[in-house]
Amino acid sequence: MTRPYRSVLYIPASRDRAMEKAKTLPVDAIIFDLEDAVAVEEKANARALLKDTLIAGGFGERAQIVRINGFDTEWGKDDLATIASARPQAVLLPKVNGAGDIEALADLLDADPDTAETQIWAMMETPLGILNAAEIAAAPRMAGFVMGTNDLAKDLGARSREAMLTSLQLCLLAARAHGLVCVDGVYNAFRDEEGLAAECAQGRDFGFDGKTLIHPAQVATANAVFAPSPEEVDLARRQIEAFEEAEARGEGVAVVDGKIVENLHVATARATLAKADAIASAEAA
Ligand code: COA
Ligand code: MG
Repeated sequence: MTRPYRSVLYIPASRDRAMEKAKTLPVDAIIFDLEDAVAVEEKANARALLKDTLIAGGFGERAQIVRINGFDTEWGKDDLATIASARPQAVLLPKVNGAGDIEALADLLDADPDTAETQIWAMMETPLGILNAAEIAAAPRMAGFVMGTNDLAKDLGARSREAMLTSLQLCLLAARAHGLVCVDGVYNAFRDEEGLAAECAQGRDFGFDGKTLIHPAQVATANAVFAPSPEEVDLARRQIEAFEEAEARGEGVAVVDGKIVENLHVATARATLAKADAIASAEAA
């Protein structure tokens, strides 16, 4: 993964002002939403507004992902046809249940030269989709998973984060097995900074790349929690240095801060530095 996905902000594509505002926010990625955040009577307007907005551009380095409506709705096909010419980096398909859903979308993308390069991201938010996470992750054009924890809680009858941990981890396993980006679900209480920070930290420790967000007030917290801390960067540098010295002595193991450092720890340390660099260059841009 070369670019960071710490903060992935949903914006309803019906909200011109919010899309404008996003150009000034330090988010790593934007999900322009045509699905659940857009009311039925606004669907057509939002789709047209989004196309114009994407073509006009101005979003800089931020990854641009469009969440379309599913193909089992009356809007899905038109959403894709309308936004194709704006060449978004990725199309995010909601309520994915199996690899067949991804293959059907990939066939449509294959058929249009405008979307020759478009990646597919999947909302992981139905019980069947979670159970099929591995085949979904392996499907054509797949590049990312977004956890849809609100829909999942509804379908499971779950009332707590704990009740969804198995689902979150199944998706992480599948994403890592197939080299996808994997971002955590939203934190609904968008004025509760402490609660958000705790949930971000939990997601980070599980291995998520970042968190989906619903409000600008959540951006700084996600960016901070999912970035390597100065202490982590310092430790990574010292681990690499110590390991290289050990290797020069013909040894395969070093010790830093009382803990062993082997090849695999060096790989993690290098990944930490690469992530810190990617964040620094994204923030400079
Ligand atoms: N992305 C970008 N900008 C946003 C934003 C978002 N998701 N949510 C709010 N803003 C902007 C507003 O436009 C406003 O900008 P302005 O000062 O230039 O007018 C500013 O941030 C402050 O907004 P605020 O008044 O605090 O919020 P609100 O009442 O306008 O909206 C929500 C609150 C929750 C309705 C709104 O944040 C939202 O729609 N979030 C996304 C929901 C979504 O996409 N859900 C689907 C996935 S779960
Ligand atoms: Mg959903």
